[in-house]
Amino acid sequence: MIKCFPVKHEGDVVDIRSHVREMAKKHGFDDLDQVRIVQSVSELAQNVVEHAEEGIVQVSLVEKEEKGGIQIEVQDFGPGIADLETILRSTEAPAVVEGYGLKQVRDLMDDFSIRVLEGKGTWIKVTKWLEEERKTSGDPM
Ligand SMILES: Nc1ncnc2c1ncn2[C@@H]1O[C@H](COP(=O)(O)OP(=O)(O)O)[C@@H](O)[C@H]1O
Ligand SMILES: [Mg+2]
Repeated sequence: MIKCFPVKHEGDVVDIRSHVREMAKKHGFDDLDQVRIVQSVSELAQNVVEHAEEGIVQVSLVEKEEKGGIQIEVQDFGPGIADLETILRSTEAPAVVEGYGLKQVRDLMDDFSIRVLEGKGTWIKVTKWLEEERKTSGDPM
C-alpha cells in the first residue's frame, strides 16, 4: 500500500500525522513506535514547509525478509541542505531543539538515507521495521 500526500502548509502536516498514525497502527506497530514514526514524518514534513516551500510525502507499507515495515519518503524541490554533514555530525544536546530535527529522525527510525541535490531539492527516506519476527527466531535461552 502506498499513499502520497502533498505538503505545502502547516495543515498538510497535521493531516499527514493522523494518516500515518492510522497506517502504523493498522500495520501492527505498538504505541511507542507509532509515536516515533509520527514524530519523524511530522519533522520531515515540517522541514519542507519551513525550508523548502513544498514537496511530497510518500508512505508505503513494505516487507523485507518476512519482516513488515513502514517507509516514508519525503521529496522537495527546495534549495537542498548545504551544510548537511555538519548538521548530522553536531553533538548538540536534544534540549537544543533548534537544528536537532533531522538527527532526531535518524535516531527514531531504523533506516535513514538522505540525498541532497544542491539548489534542486532534498530526498529523505526512512523506514521502521516491526520487531515481531525476532521474537520467533528461536533464541536459545
Ligand atoms: N527539506 C529541507 N530543505 C532545505 N533545507 C532543509 C530541509 N530540511 C532541513 N533543512 C536545513 O537543515 C537544518 C536542520 O534541520 P532540522 O534538523 O530539522 O532543524 P530545524 O528545522 O529545527 O532548523 C535547517 O535549519 C535547514 O537549514
Ligand atoms: Mg526541522
